[in-house]
Amino acid sequence: MLFFPIYISYPLPVERIRLLTPSTRQLLIISALTGGLTVAGLVVLSAVGAIEWPVAVQLALSAATLAALAVTVMSVRRVDGKALRTDKRVKRQEAALTAQRDRLAALTTQVERLARAGQKNVDTVVTALGEDRVELAGHTASLNGHTVALNGHTRRLDEQSAALTAIRSALAGLDESLRRQRSSRTEYNQIEALVDLRALLQPRAPLPRLRGWAASPDVLRLLVERVAADRPKLIVECGSGASSVWLGYAVERFGGGRVVALEHDERFAGTSRDLIAAHGLDSIVEVRHAPLTEWQTFPWYDPAVFEDLSDAGLVFVDGPPEQTGPLARYPAVPLLLPHCAPDAWIVLDDTVRPDEREVAERWLREYPELSRTTYAAEKGAMIFRRSTL
Ligand SMILES: C[S@@+](CC[C@H](N)C(=O)[O-])C[C@H]1O[C@@H](n2cnc3c(N)ncnc32)[C@H](O)[C@@H]1O
Repeated sequence: MLFFPIYISYPLPVERIRLLTPSTRQLLIISALTGGLTVAGLVVLSAVGAIEWPVAVQLALSAATLAALAVTVMSVRRVDGKALRTDKRVKRQEAALTAQRDRLAALTTQVERLARAGQKNVDTVVTALGEDRVELAGHTASLNGHTVALNGHTRRLDEQSAALTAIRSALAGLDESLRRQRSSRTEYNQIEALVDLRALLQPRAPLPRLRGWAASPDVLRLLVERVAADRPKLIVECGSGASSVWLGYAVERFGGGRVVALEHDERFAGTSRDLIAAHGLDSIVEVRHAPLTEWQTFPWYDPAVFEDLSDAGLVFVDGPPEQTGPLARYPAVPLLLPHCAPDAWIVLDDTVRPDEREVAERWLREYPELSRTTYAAEKGAMIFRRSTL
């Protein structure tokens, strides 16, 4: 009777069975209590003589058997309920698994679709790559062709460069031989001029070496030619030395005039005087010491030293030395021209130097009465002719 609600409740929802089904321990306690109460009741009933004790024992055994049966049945039901729950869980998991499988299948389909699309892209890329590779191969081939051509050009260039080097060295050789020829031509000109001078003027004493600091034979010959042609009354020389002697001899030979040499350096003025004396030209050549004084920022021979001079027919500008300052010889024309003859000649030496060329240009610009002829002398010379007539 105690387990009746349990029996009629079957079949019930698993949750309710779970609620109504006591645990094995509870069943044992309930059975023990029921058995105990039954035995106690039977003992009491037997003690009060309500029932015979063998009947009480029989009833007690029956009650114990029933309790044991009830426990067994309840255990079976309990296991059964557990099995049902497990079954339901398994079904739920199966459903979840099926859902998962469906999702997996969908994913697989998607992946396959993507894979197909990817394959298509890969195919496109591979095709494009193939085309590119073909194109690249074409470029490489053309590049190789260019490289070969370039190598050819480089080789030709090397050959041309070698040829050019050979030409350059040949040109350098020619240049050198030309320079030597020019030099030997110059040497020859100087020797020829010196031979002429010596033959014509026959100096009576040893002479200082020409060229270098002194005038070269070619310019001296030019001066002697002018003396021979014009027989100037007065020759003014800027810078004394060997040229003073040669000019003295020229005046002596072709007659008439005198030479005044302006010398800024007192020592060299003395040396030049001695030289003139040694050649017996004192009566023709006068060396005047003319210290440099400033004229319009240029240091030049003191004008007081030559203020007495007039009507010079020939002026030889060979000083002051270039070390005395820029355009050192420029004042010669501004300061000496008033002391010159109307048809005077002015010879400017060393015109291979830029300074002297600049001086010449200035003279021509500032003195229109001057005309110029360039003379191919070793150190360069220019001849200016005054023409005021
Ligand atoms: C360019 S040199 C020319 C001198 C002179 N016209 C000649 O041809 O011999 C100019 C200066 O050289 C200096 N000089 C003169 N005799 C010299 C000598 N024996 N050695 C070095 N310099 C000298 C003088 O001061 C002179 O003014």
